[in-house]
Parts: sequence; C-alpha cells; structure tokens
Amino acid sequence: MDFHALLRVIHITGFAAWFGTIFATLFLLKTLEPGLTGDKQQANDHSLLLRRFIKLETKMADVAVISVILSGLLLAHFYEGWTPWVFAKIGLMLLQIALTMGFIVKAIQPITYPCDTAQYTAWYRLFTISFSMFAVVLLVTFFLR
Ligand code: HEM
Repeated sequence: MDFHALLRVIHITGFAAWFGTIFATLFLLKTLEPGLTGDKQQANDHSLLLRRFIKLETKMADVAVISVILSGLLLAHFYEGWTPWVFAKIGLMLLQIALTMGFIVKAIQPITYPCDTAQYTAWYRLFTISFSMFAVVLLVTFFLR
C-alpha cells in the first residue's frame, strides 16, 4: 500500500466531503427560505427540519475537517516538509474556522423563526465567507506552491 497515495486520497476526499456539505446546506436554506420567513406554524415545522439537517451536517463536516487536517499534517511531516506553503495553508484553515464559527455565533444563532428576509440574508453572508475562504485555500494550494 502506498502510504503517500492513501494520505492524498484521504486529504482530497475529506476536502470534497466538506465542500459538498456546504453546498447541500446552501441549497437546503434556499429551499426552506419561504417557510422560515413565512407564517408561524410553517416556520416551526421548517426550523425543526433545519435543526435535524444541521445536526447530521455538522457530524459529517467535523469528520471531514478532522480528516483534512490530520492527513494534511501527515503529508507535511512525511513528504512535503514544513514549508512556508504548508504554514500558509494551516494559517488559512485556522482563519476559515475562526471566521465561520465567529459569524455563526454572532449572526446565525441569535435568529429565531419566522424571521424577516433581511435577517435571513445572514445565512447567505455565512456562505459567502465560507466559499471565499475555500477559493483562497484552493488558489494557494494549486497556484502558489
Ligand atoms: C492543516 C491544513 C492543511 C495542511 C497541513 C495541508 C497540507 C497539504 C499537503 C502537504 C499537500 C501535498 C500533498 C502531496 O501531493 O504530497 C496538500 C495537497 C492538497 N490540499 Fe491540503 N493541507 C491543508 C488543508 C487543506 C484544505 C483546507 C484544502 C481545501 C480547501 C486542501 C486542499 C488540498 C488539495 C486539493 C491538495 C491536492 C493538490 C495536488 O494534488 O496538487 N488542503 N495539502
């Protein structure tokens, strides 16, 4: 078994799973928007669905993020070396986690449903932060090595 190939498979699959869950969450929030910003009964039903989905999504995303970090650190240790490129990736990853978690606590968790559409846009700002950080990490990964 080629350990280097195995670590790369884990790293890239972890990344793909993490990226995919963010897209799935975006589509779900788009789908639930009329209900979560509509009448009280519908908002209650839809927020229950959202909570159930987020519970599954966070489990999956946690496993995926941990796989990306561990495989990335092992790749750096055994094959790549502790180069400035590796430290840039570690720094960006920490920044991404800090920005998204900070925004969730500050702007997403306080929302109660039904909410108005202006308040709901906080969700889309969260996706903007998340996808922008993915774009930066991917640019660094493929073009600044
Ligand atoms: C702790 C953070 C990270 C570390 C230490 C790290 C480290 C590495 C290393 C050493 C490689 C080279 C693998 C090789 O070819 O031998 C690599 C490749 C890769 N990383 Fe990361 N990484 C981290 C986070 C991320 C994140 C957050 C993403 C995605 C947004 C990502 C996406 C990729 C991709 C797509 C490749 C494959 C590049 C290629 O095939 O040329 N990494 N990473």
